Amino acid sequence: MASVFSSDGLQGRRALVTGGSAGIGLAIARSLSAAGADIVITGRDARAGKVSAEFGGKFIAFDVADPNGAQSCRDEIGPVDILINNAGVDQHGFFTNSDLDEWRRLLDVNLTGVLSVTRAFLPDMQDQGFGRLINIASEAGRRGSRGGSVYAAAKGGVIAFTKSIARESAKFGVTSNVVLPGPVDTPLLKKAIEKGGEKILGAMTGATLLGRLGTPEEVSGLVVFLASDEASFITGEVIGVSGGMGV
Ligand SMILES: NC(=O)c1ccc[n+]([C@@H]2O[C@H](COP(=O)([O-])OP(=O)(O)OC[C@H]3O[C@@H](n4cnc5c(N)ncnc54)[C@H](O)[C@@H]3O)[C@@H](O)[C@H]2O)c1
Repeated sequence: MASVFSSDGLQGRRALVTGGSAGIGLAIARSLSAAGADIVITGRDARAGKVSAEFGGKFIAFDVADPNGAQSCRDEIGPVDILINNAGVDQHGFFTNSDLDEWRRLLDVNLTGVLSVTRAFLPDMQDQGFGRLINIASEAGRRGSRGGSVYAAAKGGVIAFTKSIARESAKFGVTSNVVLPGPVDTPLLKKAIEKGGEKILGAMTGATLLGRLGTPEEVSGLVVFLASDEASFITGEVIGVSGGMGV
C-alpha cells in the first residue's frame, strides 16, 4: 500500500475538486496533485482554467447550481476515485432581511450543488468498488451562524447528507466524510471582511481557540489524508479544521 506521506501516495487515483480555482479548493487540488493524484478542477469561470495548468490538472467550467452541469462534466471526463465537493458561496446579513432569491442562491450552490455533483459521480465509485467522497461544509453547519443562517442551514444539510451517503455506500467500498473549516484566509473570507471590517475579523478569530485565521493548506492536509488508503476505516465523520471552534 503506497503511503500518502510519500509523494506518490495517491498515484493512479483520479480526483475532482469543485471550485478548485481559488482558496481552499486550489490548495486541495495542489496537495492532491503533490501526493500523485491526477486532478480535474471545476469552476464557474473558464478564465480560471489557467491555474490548473500549474499542476498539470484539467479544468472543466460549470456552475454547480446548474442541475445539468455535473452530469455533462461526468460525461466528458468519465469516472473519478476521489470527489471533493468544495465549491461554495457565503452571504452575510440577518435572516429577517433575507428573501427567497437569496435563500435559493445559497441553497442551490451550497447544498443542491453537492447533491448534483455527487449524483453524477457516486454511481461510478460504487460500481468500481472504491471511492472517497469528501465534502467541505463549515463549522457554521454544526454551530449555527449569526448573520449566516441560510448558509449554515445549507452546510448543516451537507453534514447530514455526508453521513447518509456513508451509510448507503460503505458496502461498495466508498467512504464519505465532511470537513468543517473555521475562518480560513481565502478570497471568500476577504469579501466578508471587506463588508464587515475589522469587527468581523475579530469576531471570527476570537471564536477559535487558537485566536487566528487558518490557511487553505491547513485544510488540504486533512483532505489528502482522508483521500488516502490510510483513511480506509474512517467514514461518516465530521471533522473540524477550525482552530478549536467546534469545542
Ligand atoms: N474561507 C472560509 O473561512 C471558509 C469557512 C468555512 C467553510 N468554507 C467553505 O470552504 C469552501 C471553499 O471556500 P473558499 O473560502 O475557498 O471560497 P473562495 O470563494 O475563495 O473559492 C470558492 C471556489 O468555489 C467556486 N464557486 C463558487 N460558486 C460556484 C458555483 N456556483 N459553481 C462552481 N464553482 C463555484 C469559486 O469559483 C471558487 O473557485 C466553500 O464551500 C466554503 O463555504 C470556507
